[in-house]
Amino acid sequence: MTLLFVLTVCLSFLALLATPSFATNQANSCRSYCGNITIDYPFSLDYGCGHPGFRDLLFCMNDVLMFHISSGSYRVLDIDYAYQALTLHDPHMSTCDTIVLGGRGNGFTVEQWRAPYFNPTPDNVFMLIGCSAESPLFQGFPGKHLPCRNVSGMGCEDYYGCPAWSLIGHKKVGSVYGSGPPECCAVAFEAIKAINLSKLQCEGYSSAYSLAPLRVDGAGGWSYGIRVKYSVQGNDEFCRACEATGGACGFGTDGVNQLCMCGSFNSTTNCDSESSASGKMTLSLAVALAGSFIYMATWIMGS
Ligand SMILES: *[C@@H]1O[C@H](CO)[C@@H](O)[C@H](O)[C@H]1NC(C)=O
Ligand SMILES: *[C@@H]1O[C@H](CO)[C@@H](O)[C@H](O)[C@H]1NC(C)=O
Ligand SMILES: *[C@@H]1O[C@H](CO)[C@@H](O)[C@H](O)[C@H]1NC(C)=O
Ligand SMILES: *[C@@H]1O[C@H](CO)[C@@H](O)[C@H](O)[C@H]1NC(C)=O
Repeated sequence: MTLLFVLTVCLSFLALLATPSFATNQANSCRSYCGNITIDYPFSLDYGCGHPGFRDLLFCMNDVLMFHISSGSYRVLDIDYAYQALTLHDPHMSTCDTIVLGGRGNGFTVEQWRAPYFNPTPDNVFMLIGCSAESPLFQGFPGKHLPCRNVSGMGCEDYYGCPAWSLIGHKKVGSVYGSGPPECCAVAFEAIKAINLSKLQCEGYSSAYSLAPLRVDGAGGWSYGIRVKYSVQGNDEFCRACEATGGACGFGTDGVNQLCMCGSFNSTTNCDSESSASGKMTLSLAVALAGSFIYMATWIMGS
């Protein structure tokens, strides 16, 4: 009976030591919230957390999440981790209800070093409003060949049907380029790579996206905002391995190299590799201890 008891105590002691409880406690050290939006890898609100390509990007002010890039600040409406997409809103963007002119809108331009991580989705349409005839948009496109086109079934013809256009008075421009540039020109981000209103000499812009594969009738039913796809460029394995071993993904003070934060230490791989040495040591110590307990127990019982 006593032997059984001693054995049980020894075994539970062993199991306790073998569990990497220190690591699991740290798993959520980089995860946070802003309002009701979850901030998780590759994003973060703290320097040193998340992916280095996403550093100095998100700011939380009074529960409002802001996304800051070279063209300006945007409100983040949603982060879709499963589809790896962000939905942004620019207060100076035109919608179906208002047309904002005067070049006040941000457009969408990311810093060159950050460009590989962000791309507006292919089904996001940018509608450039009031662009000058000298705009780079219309250069190299002689005659009727405008770069303007419909994107995912969304374009300016439908957008002109919005109440905002009747307020400012949309002049019907003929389809022949030569009677002046169109008042609105719809493009996909891929076609021009940067929506810079001053470079494109445009007065304003709107952006819309379609989430459902269904075609919505009329521009009144579109979702207005900028839908951006993000990616970590195949560096995902590092973080997956780190999180699988109970760590939190981050990066070093150089702002380049990824780190796995394991609570009591930082690892350049994951929380198992560097702790394995000390882990094995505690385990063998436990085995030795348990062994001596059993030996003592049998010795006591035997005598
Ligand atoms: C967050 O809250 C806002 C209202 O404050 C709501 O419109 C939005 O749908 C919520 N988002 C999520 C992901 O729950
Ligand atoms: C937009 O273009 C202007 C003029 O070419 C340039 O000075 C400015 O830096 C650009 N803005 C961004 C955010 O790249
Ligand atoms: C865009 O779609 C509308 C119908 O929604 C159509 O009338 C128009 O011709 C299309 N424009 C282009 C450039 O394909
Ligand atoms: C691990 O790295 C992070 C981010 O660089 C740093 O803030 C933290 O102090 C480091 N922790 C240890 C234990 O070195």
